[in-house]
Amino acid sequence: MTGKKHRLGVLISGRGSNLQAIIDACADGRLDAEIAVVISDVEDAYGLERARKAGIKDIFIPWKKGKRKAWEADAAGILIAEGCELICLAGFMHIVSEVLMGSFPNLILNIHPALLPGFPGLHVQQKALDWGCKVAGCTVHFVTDDLDMGPIIVQKSVPILESDDAGALAARILEQEHIAYPEAIDLVLSGRTSIEGRRVKISPK
Ligand code: GRF
Repeated sequence: MTGKKHRLGVLISGRGSNLQAIIDACADGRLDAEIAVVISDVEDAYGLERARKAGIKDIFIPWKKGKRKAWEADAAGILIAEGCELICLAGFMHIVSEVLMGSFPNLILNIHPALLPGFPGLHVQQKALDWGCKVAGCTVHFVTDDLDMGPIIVQKSVPILESDDAGALAARILEQEHIAYPEAIDLVLSGRTSIEGRRVKISPK
């Protein structure tokens, strides 16, 4: 690959296994990109440790209840200063407002551990089990002001097994998340996605 690498910003709140998948995809050339900065609202998020180990700038911005917009304004300032072109929410546990979306219109992605539009929100692996679904999966989508309902870029499915509990199902879905997120990022960075209504059209290579 040639030329300047695309610069990504990643927002996390926790263990950061999807962050790690993106770090690995940048390192092994699946992504023509580098992570410019990882920002967390949780000081001891393990994802920050993963960033440090990979030599990536990591920043903790304390979350203050009722101060979402101020947090996002601080984050947006950093992401812009770092030259980020695309923002990846990777286990970031807050709804994003127009403050961040205005700075990065149609340039914020999220990963969700369910086949949307089924099961938005939290505890979705348990919800899929309780519903009696036979198939579950994950979704990477553009972030809009409609929570977990933005246009879908990539989905991966897994079977639900008779023996599954929420933990076993979540682990099987997570393996697919780690494949789906780099794939979706690559599609967007390489200019192959266009949003038409609810649909994301993917142009051939
Ligand atoms: C993942 O299941 C992701 O789909 C959801 O939050 C979880 C984050 O896990 N949004 P990790 O921090 O990436 O390991």
